[in-house]
Amino acid sequence: MKRKSINRNRIIRKTGLLSAVLFLSILTGCAGQYPAESETPAAALFEETEPSEGRIVVGFCETGSESDWRRAHAASIRSALSEEEGFYLLYEDAQQKLENQIKAVRRFILQDVDYIVFSPLVKDGWDVVLEEAKEAGIPVIVNDRQVDVSEDLYTCWIGSDAEKEGRDAGLWLADYLEKEGRDKEQINIVTIQGTLGASIQIGRKDGFAEVLSEHDNWTMLDMQTGDFTQTKGYEVMEDFLEKYDDIDVVVSENDNMTFGAIDAIHDAGKTCGPDGDIIILSFDAVHAALEQMQKGDINADFECNPMQGEKVKEIILALEAGREVEKKMYVEETYFDNTMDLEEILKTRMY
Ligand code: AHR
Repeated sequence: MKRKSINRNRIIRKTGLLSAVLFLSILTGCAGQYPAESETPAAALFEETEPSEGRIVVGFCETGSESDWRRAHAASIRSALSEEEGFYLLYEDAQQKLENQIKAVRRFILQDVDYIVFSPLVKDGWDVVLEEAKEAGIPVIVNDRQVDVSEDLYTCWIGSDAEKEGRDAGLWLADYLEKEGRDKEQINIVTIQGTLGASIQIGRKDGFAEVLSEHDNWTMLDMQTGDFTQTKGYEVMEDFLEKYDDIDVVVSENDNMTFGAIDAIHDAGKTCGPDGDIIILSFDAVHAALEQMQKGDINADFECNPMQGEKVKEIILALEAGREVEKKMYVEETYFDNTMDLEEILKTRMY
């Protein structure tokens, strides 16, 4: 297949003056409200030679760099879609803003990339730009989080089973309370939520809620968003501790918010983890969280696997070979708790 090449002349030819003006203003930083972090320095786009020649050109837009998980995910994509692997990657970081993501996808359409891959910040708001990608004939691979659009607007999705993660957390808690002889006790729970409207947040909440609804003695006292960041996790937990003096369980929808929550708990003179005042359930299971579990601050952590780059690469190569791919694909995930040999587990963990 003759590969597309990305350079200024081609884009001017292809999309006309308006696009060229837009593109140039992007390069000079006038159009975007944030610095476009691209694998390709602007100067390279003006070179005589075409660095993308013969390579598969992929426009990838990450949600941001809000968490350890996100950084591991971005690294996995960059390494799988590298030049050595035959790709030419245009990388954008949307800094947790939907409008930035939509602009990035539009830029990829203007740049006429071979594939668009993105991890959507939230489920909604994608119809128009994905319609534009479809009209441009560019296959779209949705990665990590999901979009709520008609299925013909994207080629496929690959990511985590967020509902299963949430359900597993609820089932783990039920089992733990029973083993502790606390299954008949009143159990007060608070949730530090991720970015509201993100499919991963909704899934984890719904999965946990399923198990919650089967336990009359469990009460969800409060839920507030910490936007998947450590700073906001701290603030939300601080607020919960001021409002409620009887919190038994914190469900924290990612590890970075958990780190903030643990700091807030300690600053309030309380303890957490298996021997502490408050049970902590977290999601992601990044390296630093398992170390914090070793220290005794986290009870259980439900994995969200960020190593999705290779899967994305396999999908693209399958499409290149003209093969059909499944519409929805899940990555493998597990969970960890303090009864396991964390030292051994940590030796082999990549993130
Ligand atoms: O979409 C995956 C989630 O987003 C991870 O749980 C979280 O850490 C990240 O920010």
